[in-house]
Amino acid sequence: MLEKLQQRWKVNGLNLVLIICTFALGGSLCGYAGRKILQLVSIDKGLLWFIVYIVLITLLWPICVLLVSIPLGQFGFFKRYLGKIWGRINGRRTRDGRQGTTVHEPWAMAHGRPTIAIFASGAGSNAKKIIESNPSFTIGLIVCNKPGAGVLQIAADNNIPALLIEKERFFKDDAYLEKLKAAEIDFIILAGFLWKIPKKLIEAFPNKIINIHPALLPNYGGKGMYGHHVHQAVVDAKEKESGITIHYVDELYDHGNIIFQAKCVVTENDTADTLAQKIHELEHEHYPRVAAQVIEQMQKQR
Ligand code: GRF
Repeated sequence: MLEKLQQRWKVNGLNLVLIICTFALGGSLCGYAGRKILQLVSIDKGLLWFIVYIVLITLLWPICVLLVSIPLGQFGFFKRYLGKIWGRINGRRTRDGRQGTTVHEPWAMAHGRPTIAIFASGAGSNAKKIIESNPSFTIGLIVCNKPGAGVLQIAADNNIPALLIEKERFFKDDAYLEKLKAAEIDFIILAGFLWKIPKKLIEAFPNKIINIHPALLPNYGGKGMYGHHVHQAVVDAKEKESGITIHYVDELYDHGNIIFQAKCVVTENDTADTLAQKIHELEHEHYPRVAAQVIEQMQKQR
């Protein structure tokens, strides 16, 4: 139970204890203040007293909890916690004022340790490298569109929840936004994910989705340019170099702003397979680090 709370609120053990103390002390203070106020207005104990008392403590509770949270060093947590409750009561409005869920509101981002989802369709060697890099973020979910893909085993080996997604819901329904919200995902890393990212998801995670492409964009990108096809095209064109591109994701294939590129030499003897190996090495060397930097940068900007 306590472990679940810790994971849900993404706090360490000490903070969890302080949060629970804040709830307890804030609640007691609120009850005490409510009774004192009722004494002052001298309402006799009875149904009216009870109704006024309930209304009073409902109004006083957030104030008392916030007050107690200051000396216990939990003000930031409770400010966000109450904001979240208020958002729910209000039906959660988007930043542009429309009712709905188009813009995702990061929770953990403001809380110190962001939670990310890795989307992958294949073997998942990049996902594995990211997991093993001991990142400063929590990997809360592995999203995969291919039953039996290697990345699902990687998720299982690392006790990371996996979500197997279906075309219909991804492209025509909510794009699994509700699931991502439930897992409190702040940021998405694509690592060999072969489906196009729907507009709904891009709007919900503005500049919070990155991808790695196994070539030097803007060359050898776009629809159909994935995996082996990319390397074959590079070899066929007798390119002298290829490389990797890490970029933000927008609505077009392999099109968003470029964050990072690294190159490797393509020799006359290279085949699509040997080039794929060189590219994988580059990806494994750079993707975990660059992804971590982008996420850190984004946190600082908040
Ligand atoms: C990588 O080459 C990546 O650039 C591309 O898909 C491949 C995924 O490989 N988008 P893996 O599944 O991470 O091994």
